[in-house]
Amino acid sequence: KIPVIIDCDTGIDDMISFVLTLSSKQLDIRGVTTVAGNVSLPYTTYNTINGLAYMGRGEIPVAAGEAAPLERSYRDASEIHGDSGLGEFTFDNPVDYGPVETGGVEFLYEKLMESKEKITILALAPLTNIAKLYLEHPDCKEKIEKIVFMGGSVFSGNPTPVATFNVWVDPEAARIVMKGGVPFFMCPLDTTREAYLTEEELEIVGTIENPVAEMVYTMCSFYWSQEKKNVNGHKRFKGLCIHDLCTAAYVTNPELFHSTRYYGDVETKGPLTEGFTMIDYEDILSKSEEEKNIDYIDSVDRDGVMKVFFEALKSY
Ligand code: BDR
Ligand code: CA
Repeated sequence: KIPVIIDCDTGIDDMISFVLTLSSKQLDIRGVTTVAGNVSLPYTTYNTINGLAYMGRGEIPVAAGEAAPLERSYRDASEIHGDSGLGEFTFDNPVDYGPVETGGVEFLYEKLMESKEKITILALAPLTNIAKLYLEHPDCKEKIEKIVFMGGSVFSGNPTPVATFNVWVDPEAARIVMKGGVPFFMCPLDTTREAYLTEEELEIVGTIENPVAEMVYTMCSFYWSQEKKNVNGHKRFKGLCIHDLCTAAYVTNPELFHSTRYYGDVETKGPLTEGFTMIDYEDILSKSEEEKNIDYIDSVDRDGVMKVFFEALKSY
């Protein structure tokens, strides 16, 4: 089994990614850390703890990480994910236990250092926790197999034309992690937007009779209605882009993807371009293979991802 820690800002698409990761026989999930992102830290932590319990995996430890980016004030995405982060979904019987005692960064460090094997970190949120981990505990890097990150892009952005949310919220953190010397797999918006769920498929989700599928259907209906408010959103996208699900599928089913190594960096200062991920497609800046720091996931088998997702949904 692949040892994994998930770092997230749960969030509709983070929650949907759990449907796949928690049911996967390939993964050994050692813990989950939360961070401020789609909504504030209390909500992302509450959503995570309750989501794991709801999907029958309440034994997985959860630790709350950073409440704000390294240097900036925090900007959320509640207009897409709703005030609580889960659209119109609410837990009928929320669990009443809190996260583990240690903070998220210390939790990550402990879990990494106590592990015999290297651990893959599935990073589905702004990279604040992981950047802080690198700054405070650089010795942990030898215990990380790779970071698989949802974010970055070359051609398309959100919430700005050029920046993706998880980089835009904390560009300084993204730079630290991208250039941290640990294998960094970037699942960019350009690729996650290709792994869309069609409206017809969403209606099929609505016919699956289990509480997890019902939760996904409720959340997605809200998410889709918010995307459609974007003046061009429903024209541009062929369906609902569940970014974190696509990224999680890279960990469970890497055979459904293709990646290429490039040199890359993050713009942290430009008034029009802060949070833009520069990928050196033509090898203009990188003179050698050693200088390349990013495995850029540039294509996805959409039908393959939806197949494993539907299998996971039906397993609950
Ligand atoms: C990413 O940003 C967050 O809003 C989502 O949860 C996803 O991780 C999409 O840009
Ligand atoms: Ca996320």
